[in-house]
Amino acid sequence: MFCACKLNAQVTIVVKSKDNALALKTDKDSLLYISYFGAALKEDSLYKRVSDEYRLSDANNSMTNNAYTPAGTWNLLEPALEIEQADGNHSVELKYVSHSTKTEKQNVFLTSVVLKDPVYPVEVILNYRVYFNENIIEQWSVIKNNNPKKAIRLDKYASANLYFARDKFFLRQYHGGWAGEMKPEEHELTAGIKTLDSKLGTRANLFQPPSFVLAFNKPSDEDNGEVLLGTLAWTGNFKIDFEKDGFNNLRLIAGINPYASQYLLAAKSSFETPAFIYAYSQHGVGTASRNMHRWARNYKIPDGNGSRQTLLNNWEATYFDFDESKLTGLFKGAKELGVDLFLLDDGWFGNKYPRNDDRAGLGDWQENRKKLPNGIPFLVNEAEKAGIKFGIWVEPEMVNPKSELYEKHRDWVIRQPDRKEYYFRNQLVLDLTNPDVQQYVFSILDTLLTKNPKLAFIKWDCNAVMYNAHSAYLQKKNIPQSHIYVEYVKGLYQVLERFRKKYPDIHMMLCSGGGGRADYKALSYFTEFWPSDNTDPYERIFIQWENSYFFPAITSCNHVTDWSKTSIKFRTDVAMMGKAGFDIVVDKLSANDKSFAVAALKDYASVNKIIWHGDMYRLVNPWKNSTASLMYASADRSSAVIFNYLTDRRYNNNSSIDPVKLKGLDPAKNYQLKEINLYPGQNAVFSANKVLSGDFLMNVGVNVRLSQSHPSVVIEVQQVP
Ligand code: GLA
Repeated sequence: MFCACKLNAQVTIVVKSKDNALALKTDKDSLLYISYFGAALKEDSLYKRVSDEYRLSDANNSMTNNAYTPAGTWNLLEPALEIEQADGNHSVELKYVSHSTKTEKQNVFLTSVVLKDPVYPVEVILNYRVYFNENIIEQWSVIKNNNPKKAIRLDKYASANLYFARDKFFLRQYHGGWAGEMKPEEHELTAGIKTLDSKLGTRANLFQPPSFVLAFNKPSDEDNGEVLLGTLAWTGNFKIDFEKDGFNNLRLIAGINPYASQYLLAAKSSFETPAFIYAYSQHGVGTASRNMHRWARNYKIPDGNGSRQTLLNNWEATYFDFDESKLTGLFKGAKELGVDLFLLDDGWFGNKYPRNDDRAGLGDWQENRKKLPNGIPFLVNEAEKAGIKFGIWVEPEMVNPKSELYEKHRDWVIRQPDRKEYYFRNQLVLDLTNPDVQQYVFSILDTLLTKNPKLAFIKWDCNAVMYNAHSAYLQKKNIPQSHIYVEYVKGLYQVLERFRKKYPDIHMMLCSGGGGRADYKALSYFTEFWPSDNTDPYERIFIQWENSYFFPAITSCNHVTDWSKTSIKFRTDVAMMGKAGFDIVVDKLSANDKSFAVAALKDYASVNKIIWHGDMYRLVNPWKNSTASLMYASADRSSAVIFNYLTDRRYNNNSSIDPVKLKGLDPAKNYQLKEINLYPGQNAVFSANKVLSGDFLMNVGVNVRLSQSHPSVVIEVQQVP
């Protein structure tokens, strides 16, 4: 523990990873500001001198670049913290008290800085957890109300507040909607505040995710330049502000969205914010992405370095229209295809109000007796007999007004008691602020797994946003309604935490009508996520490309479906850049399509560890070219797999003229290149056993000869002695 023992002695705190450093310093009044953010300096003693070289005048210093900007005193900028004190006073000031750094485990260090208000009993702890080798920081704060008797009200409570002194800033942000997720836009930030936010409550990322790329001085580039990948680990409303200040520097404030979310903090209690996670690199987004992927696999995602199960899903194959024999009929196809499991999607439940479309039954989690007279246990057994495992879809946080659950427990539903109900996909959200509802949601999963211990997979969906956000439970408990958005998410985590304690190993897909919920807190409970309901491979190339900035391939569920009329080879090649699955009726495949799919799954089995655990390199950007190329290389650089696609099928756009330059190989070694995933009768784009040096492949490259008749090419690369 270090302490500011001498009155107002200036203290410098350095949060360091392998390549980078963030330095904090106190000013003469003990206010804490950010003095440095960039590459790690060779000598630690120099950090305290950085601020001497900046001419931020004292009058503004320590506020524009404050480490956690408080509101209500002399700060006139966007705050990180806003408090109404117990006596109604609306000010807070934070002065440095102490800091400490501890080793949490090998490679993981936590620096905590204690700040206190000199007038009111409020304390803030700023936490910076460093994953040293991965150059990742998780930053969050804890706000403490030390008042022994009275509550205070948090009006804003950000996770992180950062400051960057650079010439220019470029933001790559995302927008979209159902079936059109992760549409990027990159632009230079101008004076004022740019905000990324969500107010949807649930399915919070539907229109905009809390993930972005910030590039310094020039637009983001794959291999060069300073970039920061940022993302908030919170499965609810978020707000990320980018404020270009009077010095033309950038203030970044990220956290829970304070919109309609004033939070009453009881006497002697504390509020812990979610983590803002960032990867900073001086070598472009490629390095930052690979660092984030490695971190996610090593520290965040359950079984991040394990394997994943391929599957056959029945959603697009049957939608709601199935019965026992239709399903068991599909099992045979799953086995023939060679996937690990069968995933039963929506439509298997509800009796008084059968789930035959999306207008009824949600909430009534009993097997529909007409469709499934022998229940789920029978299906699990039949699947086992067919030689595959069985998984199931649930959407446990939701309810259709046409359901027994709604009839019985209207007080469990988020709705305004005296107003018209508004529906999103004909459904409403259950009130997870209520412990009874948490118990109910937990029991849906628990009952399924208790009755069917052999269930091997869960797809957890969440298809509605929160309209008419009002909780009968909070009202009954005299808790302000403005807690609803935060308490909902905490309730969800409570259920997931409990579930994971009891069932730590089961693989689980995070779905929210597509990618409406992909964030790193949710992903600490789920092994994978569903990026989009849009399974058109042309669309998917772009969606998967953008997700690849933030999420490792092992988390991306990609299914081959009949959504588009492209060849099964093209669809399969795209699906393989992650965790591949199928959502088709195998019996309807032509003989050639079927034998292709079977062989492709075998090829996949031989390269999937490289895709799941390897380093990803984005080689050719489809936004700037008429082709896309992505590569995954094993950490020891001995093997790789490259996926190439013709993305612009316009007449006469036949091939890329230039070779594709590979990355991540050993220049001194030789590699053999072989095209895999060939369709029956299809000739490889080059003869098997093409051997080239790593040096040649990375400096000259290889022409992958994409053409209208061969629009996707998958190449396996193997080091040879
Ligand atoms: C959502 C999911 C789909 C499917 C349907 C079922 O839209 O994204 O994959 O599970 O729900 O209703």
